[in-house]
Amino acid sequence: MTEVKKQLIDKFVFDDEGFRMSTPPQIAEYRAKRLKTDSIADLGSGIGVQALYFALASRRVVAVENDHKRMEDCRKNAETMGITNVEFIEGNATDENVVKMLRDVDTTHSDPSRKKTGDGWSFSDLSPNPLEVVKLYASENISFDIPAFMSPSLVPDDWELEYISLQGELKQLSTYLGGLKRFKKSALNLPSGNRIVYNKDLSRKVEYTERPKKWLYDLDGSLYYSGLLPEFLQEKKDLSLLHQDRQKTLLTGEKLILDPFIVRSYSVIDSAISLEEARKKLILEKAGKVVLRYSVDPSKYYEERRSMEKGLVGSTTIYIFKFRNRYYLADRAATAENSKVSNKD
Ligand SMILES: C[S@@+](CC[C@H](N)C(=O)[O-])C[C@H]1O[C@@H](n2cnc3c(N)ncnc32)[C@H](O)[C@@H]1O
Repeated sequence: MTEVKKQLIDKFVFDDEGFRMSTPPQIAEYRAKRLKTDSIADLGSGIGVQALYFALASRRVVAVENDHKRMEDCRKNAETMGITNVEFIEGNATDENVVKMLRDVDTTHSDPSRKKTGDGWSFSDLSPNPLEVVKLYASENISFDIPAFMSPSLVPDDWELEYISLQGELKQLSTYLGGLKRFKKSALNLPSGNRIVYNKDLSRKVEYTERPKKWLYDLDGSLYYSGLLPEFLQEKKDLSLLHQDRQKTLLTGEKLILDPFIVRSYSVIDSAISLEEARKKLILEKAGKVVLRYSVDPSKYYEERRSMEKGLVGSTTIYIFKFRNRYYLADRAATAENSKVSNKD
């Protein structure tokens, strides 16, 4: 739980499920600003985190929720915050009467509840189902939060895709339709506000580099899932790709680069061709602890780590990477986050 979420939620009433599903406040605040309008409906408002942020930015908010207890909590949370511009409708967002009651709102948002029924996410796992909402609601301006890991190929081509990460971790995939669209696709890093935007003219092919240079960088997951690494590398010409999979994207370069999309940075100290040589070098570095930053079968992680830490009596922590059977010893370095650099757009 983030500190901000805790602070806001400290004053809220909620059930565990309602809290777990609630929109992180930093995302709710960002979106309330992006969707600032005259009147907005929140279909499936839950305990009200997003709806109440909407109320701070827009003139009129209508919160729709089909769970009685959560609707009551949302009402009480509005009271606690002294918010008076929210109307509450307890009911099903796809019910004809509810749709009629919302005819005059100019913007519609929904963060549906979700339950995976197959291997991957599909729209039928979401309630209310966004595809049904689009058919039922006349409003042109609609936005949905959908699962971050849902295949973008399932999303209609004319919906904007916005991959939102918080402190470097991909949190959600937001979509915007009609007049709300600003980009085809982007990755947004919060709280920095930095955004990488899809460029249709850029080649999607990224060349891998053979071995680490002076610095190693762990990237924000939103760049992998949005497929916007080419755009990021276009901006950061000094960086090249070392490794990429669903768990992590590692870049390398000769210069120290601070950027909010860089979640962790490391400076390479040395390399070794074998475990034995790596251990000798760890002693020279006065290491006491190692953190393995390469893929290890989780059941073998501690065994491998212990074998590397055997005989170490120092006090520093060394990060170990492995590429093409060579071990690389590295130190943690500054990032934009811990050196408080941000370039809001
Ligand atoms: C992910 S939560 C929304 C959380 C909310 N954004 C917040 O910040 O607290 C989804 C909510 O939609 C409600 N819901 C699901 N299907 C619905 C429907 N058809 N009509 C109205 N509410 C619905 C659920 O009860 C749940 O509270």
